[in-house]
Amino acid sequence: MPSSLSLTPGLWSLSDRWCSGRSMTMAKKQPLAQDAYNELAEEYAARVDTKPHNAYYERPATLSLLPDVNGKRVLDAGCGPGVYAEWLVEHGAHVVAIDANEKMVALAKQRLGEKVKILQANLEAPLDFLEDGSFDIVVSPLVMDYIKVWEPVFSEFHRVLQPGGYLVFSMEHPYMKYATHHLMSNYFKVERVEYVWRGFGKPVRVPSYRRPLSGVINPLLQAGFILEQILEPLPTEEFLERDPEDYEELMHSPGFMCVRAIKGEKAV
Ligand SMILES: C[S@@+](CC[C@H](N)C(=O)[O-])C[C@H]1O[C@@H](n2cnc3c(N)ncnc32)[C@H](O)[C@@H]1O
Repeated sequence: MPSSLSLTPGLWSLSDRWCSGRSMTMAKKQPLAQDAYNELAEEYAARVDTKPHNAYYERPATLSLLPDVNGKRVLDAGCGPGVYAEWLVEHGAHVVAIDANEKMVALAKQRLGEKVKILQANLEAPLDFLEDGSFDIVVSPLVMDYIKVWEPVFSEFHRVLQPGGYLVFSMEHPYMKYATHHLMSNYFKVERVEYVWRGFGKPVRVPSYRRPLSGVINPLLQAGFILEQILEPLPTEEFLERDPEDYEELMHSPGFMCVRAIKGEKAV
């Protein structure tokens, strides 16, 4: 019998069946971009707190969509080195954080210690180590870009949320991804694209998926969520101070999109 890891007594407990990559083996293959994240992990962890695109653009927007997290059970799905998980804990949440990348998981553990239960798991596999209705909020910043088929992932988020629970996620803006790849793209398809990231140390080629707007909204609705808000954020004043050139660009052309949805009834 697997022992039970009591994370927050009285709130919920996790079976230890999650460990040693169980979900990774259940998924058909390694998630996209894991080679890139192996290369990027340390630099991402070192820079994500202050890099303007994250700290003064995406993160304030995504955080603004969260309800009060104090005392809430939150799943940080695709936690990376744990910058969101840390914010959540500092604001009184009880957090489980998961990521497919071993290095990211190690960096998150280094950053957060025992404050958060951190697991290595693939969001493209069933999250059956998490009980039905065991979270008030799922937050998934900048992760869905690496997942081709969204409906099963949103279905799992729906399952682990309690009725009325929130899903907040962010992604690269579909317009931006189409605009930068339109010469070789069919807008209406979900397509694999690549960018060379230069903002986290040495340049790293990062693959991800580009999708039409309907490919963002419909899987959410099919999984039983009610769409509450979409943010197409603008960069903040701190961004302007640190990177005036990109600020001007982002004031005219979106880089990210943030979404808030609420768990409703699943479609029959
Ligand atoms: C851009 S980072 C975002 C990290 C963190 N959410 C943040 O905002 O700093 C993307 C993360 O998603 C993770 N990821 C990508 N595909 C995943 C999957 N299928 N399952 C779990 N994590 C995944 C990567 O390993 C990486 O740590």
